[in-house]
Amino acid sequence: MTTRQTSLPGDTWQLGDLTITRFGYGAMQLTGPGVVGPPADHDAALAVLRAAVDAGITHIDTADVYGPRVVNDLIREALHPYPDWVHIATKVGATRDADGNWPTAREPDDIRRAVHDNLDALGVDALDVVNLRMGDATGPQDESLARPFETLLGLQQEGLIRHLGVSNVTVGQVAEARRLGPIVCVQNMYNLASRHDDDLIDELADAGIAYVPFFPLGGFTPVQAEELSAVASARGTTPVAVSLAWLLQRSPNILVIPGTSSVDHLRENIDGAGLVLDDADLAALDRIGRIGRPGR
Ligand SMILES: NC(=O)c1ccc[n+]([C@@H]2O[C@H](COP(=O)([O-])OP(=O)(O)OC[C@H]3O[C@@H](n4cnc5c(N)ncnc54)[C@H](OP(=O)(O)O)[C@@H]3O)[C@@H](O)[C@H]2O)c1
Repeated sequence: MTTRQTSLPGDTWQLGDLTITRFGYGAMQLTGPGVVGPPADHDAALAVLRAAVDAGITHIDTADVYGPRVVNDLIREALHPYPDWVHIATKVGATRDADGNWPTAREPDDIRRAVHDNLDALGVDALDVVNLRMGDATGPQDESLARPFETLLGLQQEGLIRHLGVSNVTVGQVAEARRLGPIVCVQNMYNLASRHDDDLIDELADAGIAYVPFFPLGGFTPVQAEELSAVASARGTTPVAVSLAWLLQRSPNILVIPGTSSVDHLRENIDGAGLVLDDADLAALDRIGRIGRPGR
């Protein structure tokens, strides 16, 4: 396996035996509206994926339910055969219905089918990282993840998965997964305005486990806050750049996977995320997330 010298903001992180750039790319925005169907401009979607890899990004986040299958097909068309320094993380645990909802699908057969769907669509013999997505559209739920996680451990034993992670999970579920088998990452919602996982991030950093925030910019509508705009304008940059720089500075185990359907935004994000925030910036930005941190 080769690694690649990169000048991306944030340098690299060791995800098990995979060396990946802390600045990654989340591919969910490449579908049609509502994460359903093909993108309006197929070639533009391929161009974003190729631009990400050309820029040195080695960590791409996907799921076969994006589209469904649309994003995985785009990734394969744009990048296969994959350079051996490109690593793709996917997730299982939900499906899509005819209305575009995301019903849970965590019975052993569902998990096995989802892993094989991802292998087939991406055109690989083994998946680099599979996250077990728990909870539902309202967020994490307190329930055991043992059954689906043990199914994934079995598929890992078969050689179909290199590394496991968990997503949309409570602190208790992270602990449960870690008792069952090794995980390399936790993918939960976290950004400047949503900081419920502050303590979990620090705990995972101590354990050498990556924390991968989904909706790092705030999701379909990037976070807007007076403090964020003030820091951005004082630094002559954009709120999106400040949001990404803040995440990369927050903890070394944070890997960012900002989503975009635009090559221009991708380049802006790479250029902007290297900003070094000073103590005054950090104190101002800290005020945004206080609502999400009871007791802090
Ligand atoms: N585990 C889970 O349950 C879960 C859930 C949701 C997402 N995810 C993963 O997390 C990744 C990131 O989340 P996300 O894409 O939903 O949200 P996000 O990264 O927080 O934000 C994406 C939004 O920001 C916009 N944006 C990006 N760069 C911009 C820029 N420079 N200027 C202005 N707007 C900009 C994008 O619009 P444009 O397209 O116009 O740039 C898009 O609307 C996803 O791609 C997916 O892989 C996982």
